[in-house]
Parts: sequence; C-alpha cells; structure tokens
Amino acid sequence: MALEHSPPPPATEGRTGSNTSLRGDYSRADSDYVVAQDWSAYTAEEHALYVRLFQRQSRLVPRYACTQFLDSLARLDAGSAIPRFDAVSARLRRATRWELVAVPGLIPDDVFFRHLANRRFPVTVWLRKPEEAEYIVEPDVFHDFFGHVPLLFEPVYADYLQEYGRGGLKALGQDALDYLARLYWYTIEFGLIREGGHHGLRAQGNGLRAYGAGLLSSSGELAHCIDDAAAQRTRFDLLRIMRTRYKIDSYQPRYFVIDSFEQLLAETRPDFTPLYAKLRGLPEFSAEEAAPEDVPA
Ligand code: PHE
Ligand code: FE
Repeated sequence: MALEHSPPPPATEGRTGSNTSLRGDYSRADSDYVVAQDWSAYTAEEHALYVRLFQRQSRLVPRYACTQFLDSLARLDAGSAIPRFDAVSARLRRATRWELVAVPGLIPDDVFFRHLANRRFPVTVWLRKPEEAEYIVEPDVFHDFFGHVPLLFEPVYADYLQEYGRGGLKALGQDALDYLARLYWYTIEFGLIREGGHHGLRAQGNGLRAYGAGLLSSSGELAHCIDDAAAQRTRFDLLRIMRTRYKIDSYQPRYFVIDSFEQLLAETRPDFTPLYAKLRGLPEFSAEEAAPEDVPA
C-alpha cells in the first residue's frame, strides 16, 4: 500500500534521546534544535524531486483539501523549488504573526511545544530520497511544508496550533501527553472538515475535505479518506479522540470530522485538567473499534 504520513508528533516512542536512528544532522542545532536552512546546499535533483511531489499533490488537492488550504497554497507560489523558509516567514509574520524555523528532524516534545506556543513552526530541512516518494517514515521538508505551512496563514487555525503548543507544555507537567498527542494526530495530522456544516451540505459534493497535514501531503490517503466507503468518519468528540489509539503504519481506520476551525478552537479551549483525570478512569479504544456514542459524519 502506498501511503505517506508523519510518525507520531508530540509524545509517544522516543522522538529523540534513546532513538539514535533519526536521520537528520543534529550536530549544528542550537538549544532549541534550530539550524540554518542552508538553502544553497540543496541539489538540483532535490529541487526536482520536491517539484515532482508538489505537482503530484497539487493535482489532488483541488478535489480533497479544505478551502483555506487551497487559498493559501495558491498565494504561496511555492511549487518551483524547495522554498526558502526566511521568505515564507516574512509573509507569515504579516499574515498571522507565525514564522518558520528550520530543524534537523524530529525534536523533543518540550522543544516542539515551546516553538508552537511562541508561534514558530519547526520545518525539517532535509528532503526524502526518490525511492521514498510514496512513503516516508519521518517527516521531511515536503510533508512539513506542503502539509502544515499553508494553514498557518489561516488565523483561527493558527491560533489553535499555538494553543496546542501551550496545552502541550501543560500536559507535560500532568503526565497527560499520550492523551494530548491523540488530539494532534486526529486533528492537525489527519483531521477532516465538513464545509458548510453537517446540516447545510455544499452544492458540490457533500463538503467533506481534508485539513490534516498527513492527509494533504499523502499520495494515497488523501483520496481514500474522502472517497473510500470503508473509511469510518465520526463527528469530532474531544473525549472520544483522547481515548482512541492510532496507527502509524497504515491508513487511519477512522477520521474525526469538524464543522469549522472555530469549533475546533472553541471545543479545546476549556481547561483539560479535569478531562485528563476522567480519561485515566476510562478504557481506551483501538484505532478501528466503534464506540456506542459515535455520531457518523
Ligand atoms: N485547553 C487545553 C488545556 O487546558 C489547551 C489546549 C488547547 C490543548 C488547544 C490543545 C488544543 O490543556
Ligand atoms: Fe506532520
């Protein structure tokens, strides 16, 4: 099966530390794991592969990506070479006060959350090898840039991501990272949105679109998550998501669907402390199993 997504972002099995198999060069990183992008070091072959990946996804997203992603992508004009992070940061600062920082690859949870909480999005500097065009285990510059950066121009989404970073720092102190990581996974990486809301369906199709970066940068799962009748789609439910494990080595059996980024921001605004306490007493769901309270989306 051809798939492509990023591994567990915050939390879970060793992002760094004990895991010595990470492929980035961490030797020149500062204490926040930030490096120089060194744009001139990319080879012509790397730029060409990036362009190929960009074109492949650009053919898919008009049918499958949410409107805000498409609008930003069109304005970004980032399809002719691996982008210069500095130039994109200058535009992002003006749009939503976010900026990009270059990193060697996966970084420790606390560092990752601190960047997000300060409206800095870490983008991996290296590009996958040609034989990894369809599938890559660690996030690379294509996943991070194409999947994550366009929505940073969307003000409500941008606020949500900062709040997530703050929530991550808080969850670290409450030993609740496993719960919060599931929220990242089922929204920021694999989230779906029903444009026009669950009641008023859009004229074109039923308004179901992807906003998760793992979907937007994937050659196969992007169509699968929308078109495949076997994919389970459930209305966003914070507690349900935090009880649900996820798959890192196959398509997701289940996606959670929001109505709007405003809904996402509003439903995650309350203090999670009592929620984490409640979760500790509740059984978990496997990635595929259905819950009695699930509402199809
Ligand atoms: N409200 C959450 C808390 O109190 C923080 C958060 C916001 C986490 C948005 C994720 C997303 O911990
Ligand atoms: Fe990602």
